[in-house]
Amino acid sequence: MKKILFVCLGNICRSPMAEFILKDLAAKAGKSADFFIASAAVSREEEGNPVYPPARRELAAHGISCAGKTARQITRQDCRDFDYIYYMDSSNGRRLRSMFPGETKFQPLLSRDVADPWYTGDFETAYRDIAEGCQRILEELG
Ligand code: 4NP
Repeated sequence: MKKILFVCLGNICRSPMAEFILKDLAAKAGKSADFFIASAAVSREEEGNPVYPPARRELAAHGISCAGKTARQITRQDCRDFDYIYYMDSSNGRRLRSMFPGETKFQPLLSRDVADPWYTGDFETAYRDIAEGCQRILEELG
């Protein structure tokens, strides 16, 4: 069982998209039982809020539900519990390293930043980038 946590700034756009895209890819590959997948934020800005509607609609357009997900901040326990912690952009990475100095599990989802659709409004590009990263994770860890 590989435990994977996705992290972004607010946990209402990119990281929940990654959580549910990878869950979908794993299910389609018949590998759901091999993974535990979740997502969290570096900030407390959106604590308790559901996935942002445009992100939810983008997932739905690809046949993916994110029902029931609410935002939460990453904890020290997450750093112990999860095997792989993927962040969406370099500023998330800096913030994680300052919150949990010395933790070695943090890595970027892609070698480039996943632009924040909260600011760009471009949920399609976010979806495409995140799906690319999730596909790679499945190939590497699956
Ligand atoms: P996310 O997008 O990090 O992809 O979930 C954001 C959502 C909310 C905020 C920032 C980014 N916010 O500042 O509230």
